[in-house]
Amino acid sequence: MEDLLSSWDGESVVLHLDRPTGAWIIIAIHSTQLGPGTGGSRLKHYSDLAAAVRDALLLAEGMTYKFATIGFPRGGAKSVIAVPAGFEPAQRAGLLRRYGSLIHQLGGLFETGPDVGTSPADMDLIAETGAPYVRARTPAFGGAGDSAPATALGVFHAIQVSCETALSDPSLRNRRVLVQGAGSVGGRLIALLKEAGATVLAADVDQAALRRLGDVERLSAADVYTTPCDVFAPCALGGILNQQSIPLLRCRVIAGAANNQLAQPEDAERLRTRGILYAPDFVVNLGGAAAITGRETMGWSEDEANRQLINAITSALHQVFRMAADEGITTTAAALRLAQARLAAPSSAS
Ligand code: PHE
Repeated sequence: MEDLLSSWDGESVVLHLDRPTGAWIIIAIHSTQLGPGTGGSRLKHYSDLAAAVRDALLLAEGMTYKFATIGFPRGGAKSVIAVPAGFEPAQRAGLLRRYGSLIHQLGGLFETGPDVGTSPADMDLIAETGAPYVRARTPAFGGAGDSAPATALGVFHAIQVSCETALSDPSLRNRRVLVQGAGSVGGRLIALLKEAGATVLAADVDQAALRRLGDVERLSAADVYTTPCDVFAPCALGGILNQQSIPLLRCRVIAGAANNQLAQPEDAERLRTRGILYAPDFVVNLGGAAAITGRETMGWSEDEANRQLINAITSALHQVFRMAADEGITTTAAALRLAQARLAAPSSAS
Protein backbone atom coordinates (compact mmCIF):
# COMPACT_ATOMS: atom_id res chain seq x y z
CA MET A 1 0.00 0.00 0.00
CA GLU A 2 2.82 2.41 0.81
CA ASP A 3 4.43 1.82 -2.59
CA LEU A 4 1.10 2.28 -4.29
CA LEU A 5 0.58 5.66 -2.63
CA SER A 6 4.11 6.98 -2.90
CA SER A 7 4.41 6.13 -6.60
CA TRP A 8 1.18 8.01 -7.37
CA ASP A 9 1.66 11.60 -8.53
CA GLY A 10 -1.64 12.95 -7.18
CA GLU A 11 -2.29 15.45 -4.39
CA SER A 12 -4.27 13.80 -1.56
CA VAL A 13 -6.14 10.69 -0.54
CA VAL A 14 -8.90 10.70 2.06
CA LEU A 15 -9.45 7.29 3.63
CA HIS A 16 -12.55 6.79 5.75
CA LEU A 17 -14.01 3.69 7.37
CA ASP A 18 -17.80 3.78 7.57
CA ARG A 19 -18.15 1.82 10.82
CA PRO A 20 -21.88 0.99 10.64
CA THR A 21 -21.39 -0.91 7.35
CA GLY A 22 -17.67 -1.71 7.30
CA ALA A 23 -17.37 0.03 3.91
CA TRP A 24 -14.13 1.84 3.10
CA ILE A 25 -14.49 5.20 1.40
CA ILE A 26 -11.47 6.34 -0.59
CA ILE A 27 -11.50 9.82 -2.09
CA ALA A 28 -8.49 10.37 -4.33
CA ILE A 29 -7.73 13.94 -5.38
CA HIS A 30 -5.31 13.70 -8.26
CA SER A 31 -5.08 17.33 -9.38
CA THR A 32 -6.77 20.60 -8.50
CA GLN A 33 -4.62 22.57 -10.88
CA LEU A 34 -7.41 23.44 -13.32
CA GLY A 35 -10.23 23.54 -10.73
CA PRO A 36 -11.94 21.58 -7.95
CA GLY A 37 -11.28 17.84 -7.99
CA THR A 38 -14.27 16.29 -9.75
CA GLY A 39 -15.10 12.66 -10.40
CA GLY A 40 -17.66 9.94 -9.99
CA SER A 41 -18.43 7.73 -7.00
CA ARG A 42 -17.81 4.06 -7.73
CA LEU A 43 -19.62 1.71 -5.37
CA LYS A 44 -18.70 -1.97 -5.47
CA HIS A 45 -17.08 -4.81 -3.62
CA TYR A 46 -13.30 -5.28 -3.96
CA SER A 47 -11.17 -8.27 -3.01
CA ASP A 48 -9.18 -6.10 -0.59
CA LEU A 49 -8.55 -2.51 0.44
CA ALA A 50 -5.38 -2.17 -1.67
CA ALA A 51 -7.33 -3.07 -4.83
CA ALA A 52 -9.93 -0.42 -3.99
CA VAL A 53 -7.28 2.24 -3.30
CA ARG A 54 -5.46 1.38 -6.52
CA ASP A 55 -8.67 1.73 -8.50
CA ALA A 56 -9.42 5.12 -6.91
CA LEU A 57 -5.92 6.45 -7.64
CA LEU A 58 -5.97 5.41 -11.30
CA LEU A 59 -9.53 6.58 -11.87
CA ALA A 60 -8.76 9.99 -10.32
CA GLU A 61 -5.77 10.38 -12.62
CA GLY A 62 -8.00 9.59 -15.59
CA MET A 63 -10.38 12.37 -14.56
CA THR A 64 -7.52 14.89 -14.56
CA TYR A 65 -6.70 13.94 -18.15
CA LYS A 66 -10.34 14.06 -19.28
CA PHE A 67 -10.84 17.63 -18.13
CA ALA A 68 -7.36 18.73 -19.22
CA THR A 69 -7.83 17.27 -22.71
CA ILE A 70 -10.65 19.71 -23.36
CA GLY A 71 -9.29 22.54 -21.23
CA PHE A 72 -12.28 22.36 -18.91
CA PRO A 73 -11.79 24.22 -15.59
CA ARG A 74 -11.97 21.15 -13.35
CA GLY A 75 -9.46 18.98 -11.57
CA GLY A 76 -9.33 15.21 -11.45
CA ALA A 77 -10.58 13.13 -8.53
CA LYS A 78 -12.55 9.97 -7.87
CA SER A 79 -14.17 8.22 -5.01
CA VAL A 80 -14.43 4.50 -4.38
CA ILE A 81 -16.91 3.16 -1.86
CA ALA A 82 -15.70 -0.38 -1.25
CA VAL A 83 -18.59 -2.25 0.33
CA PRO A 84 -18.08 -5.57 2.13
CA ALA A 85 -19.37 -8.84 0.67
CA GLY A 86 -22.99 -9.29 1.67
CA PHE A 87 -23.65 -5.54 1.87
CA GLU A 88 -27.40 -5.13 2.43
CA PRO A 89 -29.43 -2.81 0.17
CA ALA A 90 -31.16 -1.56 3.34
CA GLN A 91 -27.84 -0.07 4.49
CA ARG A 92 -27.33 1.88 1.32
CA ALA A 93 -29.16 5.14 2.12
CA GLY A 94 -27.40 5.54 5.47
CA LEU A 95 -24.01 4.89 3.93
CA LEU A 96 -24.62 7.41 1.15
CA ARG A 97 -25.77 10.09 3.61
CA ARG A 98 -22.67 9.61 5.75
CA TYR A 99 -20.60 9.72 2.57
CA GLY A 100 -22.32 13.03 1.72
CA SER A 101 -21.29 14.47 5.10
CA LEU A 102 -17.70 13.53 4.42
CA ILE A 103 -17.83 15.31 1.05
CA HIS A 104 -19.37 18.34 2.74
CA GLN A 105 -16.56 18.42 5.30
CA LEU A 106 -14.04 18.58 2.50
CA GLY A 107 -15.56 21.95 1.66
CA GLY A 108 -15.27 21.82 -2.13
CA LEU A 109 -11.96 20.00 -2.49
CA PHE A 110 -14.00 17.20 -4.07
CA GLU A 111 -17.17 17.22 -6.17
CA THR A 112 -18.82 14.02 -7.27
CA GLY A 113 -21.22 12.45 -9.75
CA PRO A 114 -22.34 8.94 -10.66
CA ASP A 115 -20.08 6.10 -11.76
CA VAL A 116 -20.19 2.29 -11.79
CA GLY A 117 -22.63 1.25 -9.04
CA THR A 118 -24.25 4.65 -8.43
CA SER A 119 -27.08 6.57 -10.11
CA PRO A 120 -28.60 10.06 -10.17
CA ALA A 121 -31.06 8.86 -7.48
CA ASP A 122 -28.03 8.03 -5.31
CA MET A 123 -26.71 11.54 -6.00
CA ASP A 124 -30.01 12.94 -4.62
CA LEU A 125 -29.36 11.03 -1.39
CA ILE A 126 -25.71 12.03 -1.18
CA ALA A 127 -26.70 15.67 -1.78
CA GLU A 128 -28.97 15.64 1.30
CA THR A 129 -25.79 16.00 3.33
CA GLY A 130 -23.18 16.71 0.67
CA ALA A 131 -24.67 19.69 -1.21
CA PRO A 132 -23.54 21.79 -3.01
CA TYR A 133 -20.75 19.44 -4.09
CA VAL A 134 -22.88 16.79 -5.79
CA ARG A 135 -23.43 16.72 -9.57
CA ALA A 136 -25.91 14.79 -11.73
CA ARG A 137 -28.81 14.73 -9.30
CA THR A 138 -32.16 13.88 -10.87
CA PRO A 139 -34.00 16.77 -12.61
CA ALA A 140 -36.66 16.61 -9.85
CA PHE A 141 -33.90 17.56 -7.38
CA GLY A 142 -32.49 20.29 -9.61
CA GLY A 143 -29.72 18.27 -11.25
CA ALA A 144 -28.91 17.59 -14.89
CA GLY A 145 -29.64 13.88 -14.41
CA ASP A 146 -27.86 10.84 -15.74
CA SER A 147 -24.45 11.28 -17.36
CA ALA A 148 -24.71 8.00 -19.30
CA PRO A 149 -26.51 9.39 -22.40
CA ALA A 150 -23.81 12.05 -22.89
CA THR A 151 -21.04 9.52 -22.34
CA ALA A 152 -22.61 7.18 -24.90
CA LEU A 153 -23.02 10.01 -27.42
CA GLY A 154 -19.33 10.84 -27.06
CA VAL A 155 -18.28 7.23 -27.52
CA PHE A 156 -20.47 6.98 -30.62
CA HIS A 157 -18.70 9.97 -32.20
CA ALA A 158 -15.30 8.67 -31.11
CA ILE A 159 -16.03 5.42 -32.93
CA GLN A 160 -16.84 7.33 -36.11
CA VAL A 161 -13.64 9.41 -35.97
CA SER A 162 -11.62 6.25 -35.30
CA CYS A 163 -13.20 4.45 -38.28
CA GLU A 164 -12.50 7.47 -40.46
CA THR A 165 -8.82 7.30 -39.44
CA ALA A 166 -8.28 3.53 -39.49
CA LEU A 167 -10.71 2.44 -42.20
CA SER A 168 -10.94 5.66 -44.28
CA ASP A 169 -14.70 5.88 -43.73
CA PRO A 170 -16.57 7.29 -40.72
CA SER A 171 -19.84 5.60 -41.69
CA LEU A 172 -20.96 2.82 -39.37
CA ARG A 173 -23.39 1.29 -41.84
CA ASN A 174 -22.76 -2.47 -41.87
CA ARG A 175 -19.71 -2.13 -39.62
CA ARG A 176 -19.37 -4.91 -37.05
CA VAL A 177 -19.13 -3.29 -33.63
CA LEU A 178 -18.58 -5.47 -30.57
CA VAL A 179 -19.77 -3.87 -27.34
CA GLN A 180 -18.53 -5.38 -24.08
CA GLY A 181 -20.96 -4.38 -21.33
CA ALA A 182 -24.58 -3.42 -21.94
CA GLY A 183 -25.06 -1.30 -18.81
CA SER A 184 -26.12 2.32 -18.61
CA VAL A 185 -23.55 3.54 -21.18
CA GLY A 186 -23.10 0.35 -23.25
CA GLY A 187 -26.87 -0.12 -23.63
CA ARG A 188 -27.34 3.43 -24.95
CA LEU A 189 -24.35 3.12 -27.23
CA ILE A 190 -25.84 -0.02 -28.74
CA ALA A 191 -29.06 1.87 -29.55
CA LEU A 192 -27.08 4.64 -31.30
CA LEU A 193 -25.03 2.10 -33.25
CA LYS A 194 -28.11 0.24 -34.43
CA GLU A 195 -29.71 3.50 -35.55
CA ALA A 196 -26.59 4.21 -37.60
CA GLY A 197 -26.91 0.86 -39.37
CA ALA A 198 -24.09 -1.01 -37.62
CA THR A 199 -24.17 -4.74 -36.95
CA VAL A 200 -23.91 -4.95 -33.17
CA LEU A 201 -22.39 -7.84 -31.22
CA ALA A 202 -22.80 -7.62 -27.46
CA ALA A 203 -21.64 -9.38 -24.33
CA ASP A 204 -22.60 -8.83 -20.71
CA VAL A 205 -22.33 -10.83 -17.50
CA ASP A 206 -25.99 -9.95 -16.95
CA GLN A 207 -27.90 -12.22 -19.37
CA ALA A 208 -31.19 -10.40 -18.74
CA ALA A 209 -29.62 -7.08 -19.83
CA LEU A 210 -28.48 -8.78 -23.04
CA ARG A 211 -31.91 -10.17 -23.82
CA ARG A 212 -33.45 -6.71 -23.46
CA LEU A 213 -31.28 -5.40 -26.31
CA GLY A 214 -33.36 -6.97 -29.05
CA ASP A 215 -31.68 -7.29 -32.39
CA VAL A 216 -28.01 -7.88 -31.56
CA GLU A 217 -25.70 -10.85 -31.91
CA ARG A 218 -25.21 -12.06 -28.33
CA LEU A 219 -21.74 -13.26 -27.38
CA SER A 220 -20.55 -15.17 -24.37
CA ALA A 221 -17.83 -13.55 -22.27
CA ALA A 222 -15.38 -16.19 -23.50
CA ASP A 223 -15.74 -15.04 -27.12
CA VAL A 224 -15.31 -11.29 -26.61
CA TYR A 225 -11.61 -11.12 -27.47
CA THR A 226 -11.52 -13.62 -30.32
CA THR A 227 -14.57 -12.67 -32.39
CA PRO A 228 -13.76 -10.79 -35.61
CA CYS A 229 -15.17 -7.26 -35.76
CA ASP A 230 -14.28 -3.81 -37.10
CA VAL A 231 -14.62 -2.01 -33.78
CA PHE A 232 -14.26 -3.29 -30.24
CA ALA A 233 -15.98 -1.01 -27.69
CA PRO A 234 -15.11 -1.93 -24.08
CA CYS A 235 -17.90 -0.49 -21.91
CA ALA A 236 -17.54 -2.56 -18.74
CA LEU A 237 -14.67 -2.50 -16.25
CA GLY A 238 -10.99 -1.61 -16.79
CA GLY A 239 -7.81 -3.61 -17.35
CA ILE A 240 -9.25 -5.70 -20.18
CA LEU A 241 -6.53 -4.79 -22.73
CA ASN A 242 -3.55 -6.76 -21.51
CA GLN A 243 -0.77 -9.13 -22.43
CA GLN A 244 -3.23 -12.05 -22.63
CA SER A 245 -6.11 -10.42 -24.51
CA ILE A 246 -4.25 -8.21 -27.03
CA PRO A 247 -2.73 -11.08 -29.08
CA LEU A 248 -6.24 -12.57 -29.45
CA LEU A 249 -8.02 -9.47 -30.73
CA ARG A 250 -9.40 -9.49 -34.26
CA CYS A 251 -10.52 -5.87 -34.57
CA ARG A 252 -9.14 -2.78 -36.35
CA VAL A 253 -10.28 -0.13 -33.89
CA ILE A 254 -10.82 0.03 -30.12
CA ALA A 255 -13.00 2.84 -28.79
CA GLY A 256 -15.16 2.36 -25.73
CA ALA A 257 -16.48 3.92 -22.53
CA ALA A 258 -14.68 1.91 -19.84
CA ASN A 259 -12.12 3.78 -17.74
CA ASN A 260 -8.51 2.52 -17.59
CA GLN A 261 -8.82 -0.06 -20.34
CA LEU A 262 -5.06 -0.72 -20.55
CA ALA A 263 -3.87 -3.05 -17.79
CA GLN A 264 -0.35 -1.62 -18.08
CA PRO A 265 1.24 1.33 -19.91
CA GLU A 266 3.10 -1.11 -22.24
CA ASP A 267 -0.22 -2.35 -23.57
CA ALA A 268 -0.49 0.83 -25.67
CA GLU A 269 2.63 -0.24 -27.56
CA ARG A 270 1.32 -3.80 -27.88
CA LEU A 271 -1.79 -2.47 -29.63
CA ARG A 272 0.25 -0.19 -31.89
CA THR A 273 2.49 -3.08 -32.91
CA ARG A 274 -0.57 -5.10 -33.80
CA GLY A 275 -1.83 -2.29 -36.02
CA ILE A 276 -4.98 -1.75 -33.95
CA LEU A 277 -6.03 1.89 -33.64
CA TYR A 278 -6.70 2.55 -29.95
CA ALA A 279 -8.75 5.65 -29.12
CA PRO A 280 -7.53 6.58 -25.61
CA ASP A 281 -10.26 5.89 -23.05
CA PHE A 282 -10.08 9.20 -21.23
CA VAL A 283 -10.73 11.09 -24.48
CA VAL A 284 -13.48 8.74 -25.69
CA ASN A 285 -15.41 8.75 -22.41
CA LEU A 286 -15.12 12.35 -21.24
CA GLY A 287 -18.58 13.26 -22.56
CA GLY A 288 -20.61 12.46 -19.44
CA ALA A 289 -18.48 14.30 -16.93
CA ALA A 290 -17.99 17.29 -19.27
CA ALA A 291 -21.66 17.56 -20.23
CA ILE A 292 -23.07 17.28 -16.71
CA THR A 293 -20.49 19.55 -15.13
CA GLY A 294 -20.89 22.05 -17.98
CA ARG A 295 -24.67 22.10 -17.61
CA GLU A 296 -24.56 22.48 -13.84
CA THR A 297 -21.68 24.93 -13.48
CA MET A 298 -21.43 26.80 -16.78
CA GLY A 299 -25.11 27.13 -17.64
CA TRP A 300 -24.97 25.00 -20.80
CA SER A 301 -28.26 23.71 -22.17
CA GLU A 302 -28.46 20.02 -23.00
CA ASP A 303 -28.00 20.82 -26.71
CA GLU A 304 -25.04 23.07 -25.97
CA ALA A 305 -23.46 20.36 -23.80
CA ASN A 306 -23.88 17.76 -26.55
CA ARG A 307 -22.41 20.11 -29.12
CA GLN A 308 -19.46 20.90 -26.86
CA LEU A 309 -18.70 17.27 -26.08
CA ILE A 310 -18.95 16.10 -29.68
CA ASN A 311 -16.64 18.92 -30.85
CA ALA A 312 -14.20 18.37 -28.01
CA ILE A 313 -13.91 14.61 -28.51
CA THR A 314 -13.80 14.80 -32.30
CA SER A 315 -11.11 17.47 -32.44
CA ALA A 316 -9.02 15.93 -29.65
CA LEU A 317 -9.05 12.52 -31.35
CA HIS A 318 -8.10 13.99 -34.71
CA GLN A 319 -5.14 15.71 -33.05
CA VAL A 320 -4.17 12.58 -31.13
CA PHE A 321 -4.29 10.29 -34.17
CA ARG A 322 -2.34 12.77 -36.29
CA MET A 323 0.34 13.29 -33.63
CA ALA A 324 0.70 9.54 -33.05
CA ALA A 325 1.10 8.87 -36.79
CA ASP A 326 3.48 11.79 -37.41
CA GLU A 327 5.74 11.00 -34.48
CA GLY A 328 5.49 7.21 -34.43
CA ILE A 329 4.21 7.16 -30.84
CA THR A 330 1.21 5.44 -29.28
CA THR A 331 -2.13 7.20 -29.26
CA THR A 332 -2.04 7.10 -25.45
CA ALA A 333 1.30 8.91 -25.39
CA ALA A 334 -0.09 11.49 -27.80
CA ALA A 335 -3.24 12.04 -25.73
CA LEU A 336 -1.23 12.37 -22.51
CA ARG A 337 0.97 14.93 -24.20
CA LEU A 338 -2.10 16.96 -25.17
CA ALA A 339 -3.49 16.80 -21.64
CA GLN A 340 -0.17 17.58 -20.00
CA ALA A 341 0.32 20.61 -22.21
CA ARG A 342 -2.94 22.00 -20.79
CA LEU A 343 -1.84 21.23 -17.25
CA ALA A 344 1.50 22.92 -17.79
CA ALA A 345 -0.15 26.09 -19.09
CA PRO A 346 -3.55 26.33 -17.38
CA SER A 347 -3.92 30.01 -18.24
CA SER A 348 -4.04 29.15 -21.95
CA ALA A 349 -6.80 26.60 -21.39
CA SER A 350 -10.03 27.63 -23.04
N1 PHE B 1 -18.51 8.57 -14.26
C1 PHE B 1 -18.02 9.81 -14.80
C2 PHE B 1 -16.66 9.55 -15.48
O1 PHE B 1 -15.99 8.57 -15.21
C3 PHE B 1 -17.85 10.79 -13.68
C4 PHE B 1 -18.78 11.97 -13.60
C5 PHE B 1 -20.08 11.98 -14.03
C6 PHE B 1 -18.30 13.14 -13.03
C7 PHE B 1 -20.86 13.10 -13.94
C8 PHE B 1 -19.06 14.28 -12.92
C9 PHE B 1 -20.36 14.25 -13.37
O2 PHE B 1 -16.23 10.32 -16.29
